[in-house]
Amino acid sequence: MHESGFGPLDRSVVSAMLGQRIEIEIAAPALVSQGLYPEELQYIARAVEKRQAEFATARICARRALARLGVAPCALVPNADRSPSWPNGVVGSIAHTTDCCIVAVTNAPEIIGIGVDIEVDAPLEPNLERMICTERERRWLDCAKPGERGFLGKLHFSAKEAFYKCQYSITGTFLDFAQVEIKFDLARQSFAIVALARQDPAWDFVPRAQGRFRRAAGFVITSVTLAAFNSAGQL
Ligand SMILES: CC(C)(COP(=O)(O)OP(=O)(O)OC[C@H]1O[C@@H](n2cnc3c(N)ncnc32)[C@H](O)[C@@H]1OP(=O)(O)O)[C@@H](O)C(=O)NCCC(=O)NCCS
Repeated sequence: MHESGFGPLDRSVVSAMLGQRIEIEIAAPALVSQGLYPEELQYIARAVEKRQAEFATARICARRALARLGVAPCALVPNADRSPSWPNGVVGSIAHTTDCCIVAVTNAPEIIGIGVDIEVDAPLEPNLERMICTERERRWLDCAKPGERGFLGKLHFSAKEAFYKCQYSITGTFLDFAQVEIKFDLARQSFAIVALARQDPAWDFVPRAQGRFRRAAGFVITSVTLAAFNSAGQL
């Protein structure tokens, strides 16, 4: 357990969510400059220390995970829209919170999108519930066991962030929390995206998005993965 009371989060917890074809790295953010490329140092030079630490740790974690995929080390400077930029043939996702950074990457052709999120396992502030959850989701929360509502609210928040990251690499679209609806299967620690306020064919992949969650080491962790229709990796 860290001084703050969170973590460490065991890699096996996240690996079990994402499956064997996805490489995971987890670390506590640390302010390091060794192991960073000049362009990465330049990207983060004016940020506050907390941001420098999480950014650097994510890059080091990502290169470790990419090495296990056989990908040569390279600079991982974000795109102009802040989304991560991966080497050709790789998809992945990054998430940070207090004391924990997760990176998930794969070059398996059958996986065309990944989104991960991690949050401190503390109840969602009640005044945020209306912003994060739709009316239907709030009706479901009305049936929650006493004391569980705040956790389930946080779970909605995290699941939507993970879905957002996964879908962005495919559509490049900004989505608001109210545009996505999630249905949890708490016993299976999984979720599905059941409604999206967008209908055009670009979003046909949504029912295939597979959401999973875990509660471990003082964190809520969510993931969304998207499989290709066929082994050639086509939608
Ligand atoms: C992108 C976003 C999800 C990141 O969440 P966050 O709580 O700020 O930060 P996290 O620690 O969870 O994730 C940070 C990582 O997200 C990744 N990220 C940033 N923008 C991204 C995007 N558009 N798509 C995918 N990943 C993105 C980055 O890799 C970043 O880490 P890095 O800066 O070290 O590279 C959030 O800032 C955001 O813009 N949300 C949009 C609204 C939304 O969440 N809608 C949900 C409804 S579906």
